[in-house]
Amino acid sequence: MIRTQILGLGSYVPDRVVTNSELPFLNDRHERQETQQSETNDEWIAKRTGIRERRYVPNDGSVATSDLALQAAKRAIADANLEPGEIDCIILGTLSPDIHFPGTAVFLQKKLGIADRNCACFDIRQQCSAFVYGLQMADAFIKTGMYKRVLLVGAELHSHSLDYSTRGRDVMVLFGDGAGAVVLGPQETDDPRAGVMYTAAHADGNGAMDLYLKIFDIAKAPYVDYDARDREQNQAKYPQMDGKRVFLNAVRGMVMSTQAALAKTGLSWDDIAWFVPHQANLRINEKVVEVAKIPADKVLNTIQFYGNTTAATVPLTIDYWRQQGKVKRGDRILASVFGSGFTWGAAIFTF
Ligand code: UT7
Repeated sequence: MIRTQILGLGSYVPDRVVTNSELPFLNDRHERQETQQSETNDEWIAKRTGIRERRYVPNDGSVATSDLALQAAKRAIADANLEPGEIDCIILGTLSPDIHFPGTAVFLQKKLGIADRNCACFDIRQQCSAFVYGLQMADAFIKTGMYKRVLLVGAELHSHSLDYSTRGRDVMVLFGDGAGAVVLGPQETDDPRAGVMYTAAHADGNGAMDLYLKIFDIAKAPYVDYDARDREQNQAKYPQMDGKRVFLNAVRGMVMSTQAALAKTGLSWDDIAWFVPHQANLRINEKVVEVAKIPADKVLNTIQFYGNTTAATVPLTIDYWRQQGKVKRGDRILASVFGSGFTWGAAIFTF
């Protein structure tokens, strides 16, 4: 039978490290100021979120989401011992697209130098759940023979859409820039546990306005009716979140999808090498680990130094820990995600 295999993995984060101590001094262009710009501090952020630092792109307009995606994609393609021209499908998850349309996947395709190749390009809009949603799509495409080499990328540029004033501090402290990518392809095998073994994707639109970013309102004409430079009227350009509702639903969604993944596959934690949860808040992950009774030594996190990179968190975390020598080829991973929408899900796959 045909199973989907992860052929390569890559990730990328920009060089600039922004610590919790520096964050309160940044203005809306994330430039460091002499005086404090927002009322937040290292102690609060570390205690409530586990985050100590995050990465930001330069603010000179030189880097877009597709550039972050490109770096991660190149590394994943090289890791798979392939050339970009061998990719016949790109699935790109992001909530920070380069522009409104077309989708960012076509910009990535062009930057990969394969714009003239027969390569399908999908953008998917599942925020922090994009990796599991995209993996499910890629798995279906590969098993049906629709595509043979699928590049799945999660890439986010958050630092340009955060409110660096006290008003935006609950959201602003959480997010960072980064990208992660995998290349997937078919494998002929009799092993029912090989490759991508399980994916499940869920959504509950009742939570749509618990974490959202409007920017524009297409029902209205004009669909942008605020002065983006005016602090009093430009809230539509920043993410809005009911943190407590997101927190509770995240714990519930990730616990339920993790438990379902094991129940439906008949696997136990003895069969799983690593648990890779979405990286939104270390306290969410600690609660999930406690409630779902996950062995603590199997849990991989990167939120402490990358913050929440939404669509990128799962491949970025796996790649980080591979570089540290923990994750090895052939390890079986259970990933569980939750994000805006609400959307959530889980996947079990060997790396
Ligand atoms: O991928 C999904 C994306 N998002 C998430 O998963 C986020 C889920 N939610 C969370 O992570 C947490 O709800 C937060 C980290 C956002 C907030 O933590 P919390 O423990 O729920 O704090 P809170 O909202 O109850 O706020 C407690 C206090 C409030 O002050 P008062 O009313 O007690 O005086 C807030 O105004 O902390 C204040 N506060 C802050 N103080 C310093 C909120 N944000 C900050 C901040 N720095 N950044």
